Amino acid sequence: MKSCGATAPGKVILFGEHAVVYHRPAIAVPVMSVQAKVDLQETGAHHDVRIIAPDLGRDYRLAEAEADDALALIIRLALARFQQVVPPEATLTVTSSIPLGRGLGSGAAISTAVVRCLAQFYGQPLTPAEISELVYEVEKLYHGTPSGIDNTVIAYQQPVYFIREQPIERLSVRDSFTLVVGDTGQVSPTHKAVGHVRRQWQADPQRFESLFDEAGQIAAAARNVIEQGGSVVRLGRLMNDNQAVLEALGVSSSELEQLIEAARQAGAWGAKLSGAGWGGNMIALVEPERAAAVADALLKAGATGYIITEVAPS
Ligand code: MEV
Repeated sequence: MKSCGATAPGKVILFGEHAVVYHRPAIAVPVMSVQAKVDLQETGAHHDVRIIAPDLGRDYRLAEAEADDALALIIRLALARFQQVVPPEATLTVTSSIPLGRGLGSGAAISTAVVRCLAQFYGQPLTPAEISELVYEVEKLYHGTPSGIDNTVIAYQQPVYFIREQPIERLSVRDSFTLVVGDTGQVSPTHKAVGHVRRQWQADPQRFESLFDEAGQIAAAARNVIEQGGSVVRLGRLMNDNQAVLEALGVSSSELEQLIEAARQAGAWGAKLSGAGWGGNMIALVEPERAAAVADALLKAGATGYIITEVAPS
């Protein structure tokens, strides 16, 4: 009986969320310390895939899954890609240490791990671009009009400078830097915040286009700093500037701002929300020696958890 396993990391957006939906550049990096994990074990028992997701309390069969079930959708898309008309007789188990619905790419990571696992199972390796393309189909179901940044950074598993519908540009990181990611504990459905921005943009296109431009210029400036190295203080300021734009877009929240302020007070060089906003996670750029103190300040300010992660030269 065949078996295989695959993983995929979480992600954070460093710069440019929301504006990236409107074709402005954004920067995202993988977070390797949190992972989605998929195991596939052939059973030869039930002429179908049994899907077990213990974290979600789910145990069901592929054949019975609803049309909008994300796990079933990515399995079906992958089976079609591998030209498998009949699903394998196997149990697919999904676990994840990526907090769900908090802007860390949990959905895209689970989909990526499923595709990687099935690619191994059928001995048909796919490129990151091919994996990203399949995962994007599921992102569309959940996020409405996704830019594609989440599936890209997770499938490539590398820092990216991303512009929607343009060839992927890998970001080369000159000097490592440290981030503390703080969790508000609030689930934030991406499509709601994205829909809010869209309605505001439709109501006042001139103002929103100029906010998107500002976010894009900040991401472009941040790219120079990250690629040339050295100036973390400037990078921190750019994060603060991006947070101001996100507040103007209306996607921040008092909980996020409480954590952002606590991180700045504790000595972070800069801090901002990361992902869709209205809950989810924030990130703070810190001196490595201050990471523990900033994490502690976040917990005192109400964070339900934190991750300390290093973005290494690439
Ligand atoms: C979500 O991780 C990032 C957003 O910019 C949406 C998207 O890019 O599709 C809010």
